[in-house]
Amino acid sequence: MERPGWAPQGIDLSVPSVSRIYDYYLGGSHNFEVDREAGRRAIRAFPGMPRIMQANRAFMRRAVRYAAGRGVTQFLDIGSGIPTFGSVHEVAQEADPECRVVYVDHDPVAVAHSRAVLEGNERAGVLSADLRKPAEILRSAEVGGLLDLERPVALLLVAVLHFVPDEDDPWALVAELRDALAPGSLLVLTHAATAAGQAKPEEGEKVKEVQHVYRTIGSPLCTRDHADVARFFDGFTMVEPGLVPIPLWRPGPGDAAGEGPAADDPVLAAGFAGVAGVGRRP
Ligand SMILES: C[S@@+](CC[C@H](N)C(=O)[O-])C[C@H]1O[C@@H](n2cnc3c(N)ncnc32)[C@H](O)[C@@H]1O
Repeated sequence: MERPGWAPQGIDLSVPSVSRIYDYYLGGSHNFEVDREAGRRAIRAFPGMPRIMQANRAFMRRAVRYAAGRGVTQFLDIGSGIPTFGSVHEVAQEADPECRVVYVDHDPVAVAHSRAVLEGNERAGVLSADLRKPAEILRSAEVGGLLDLERPVALLLVAVLHFVPDEDDPWALVAELRDALAPGSLLVLTHAATAAGQAKPEEGEKVKEVQHVYRTIGSPLCTRDHADVARFFDGFTMVEPGLVPIPLWRPGPGDAAGEGPAADDPVLAAGFAGVAGVGRRP
């Protein structure tokens, strides 16, 4: 397969990537046929996938506006993905042009495209790093140059922690990041979750099929229950309405048309839709 200009040298074009499949769900153009094929398999099992992803992006934008509205103007977005319409820096800098953003991802396409999109933006940068190495992120030149960790930061871990298996202890990783944040900082998080007692058996089968797709591409999807996701907020005070299905986190007039599915969308009520929350470091 020919390598398009936006794809960095050295990436394996025959292996699907999480960020490019996600880009495909969202209707983006930075994906290959292998990614689209994996995405189509997931969508066949779970036709609501693209709407869930739109709901996830819409939550992220609401949470960024929430942070900026409370004077938190620094954003550390880990697992930031391939920038698409309405990215963190666009929403944040629209709310307050002084906002500073550092994107972090371990996917070369996500990093290369972020770099291209951010060119000329002095208040935003991108770092190629792994969430499983928080110290490298915190000590990086990008974080040091753009963010002041003595002041509040909004740490975004949106749709990424479910790619970190239990054996890598994602709770310890989040705690390490939390401990580096000043009081008043925010944790903004979404996570694939099966609502206990809510999912029907046939939904369970669909989830297993989606998990199979991600396992075959080498990035297992770890859905977690509500209690295990809530543990990521240890040391934070939950902002109302707490940890809830993604579209239920402060839906409102701030959502532009097309921002995502309605809160009562049956697909999103099915249990696999995932949960969202924002916590504040006291
Ligand atoms: C589903 S996308 C979410 C993108 C964005 N946060 C959003 O919600 O719109 C997950 C992203 O996390 C990245 N990712 C997964 N595991 C990671 C890790 N260990 N370190 C850094 N990035 C990771 C993937 O490359 C991908 O870009």
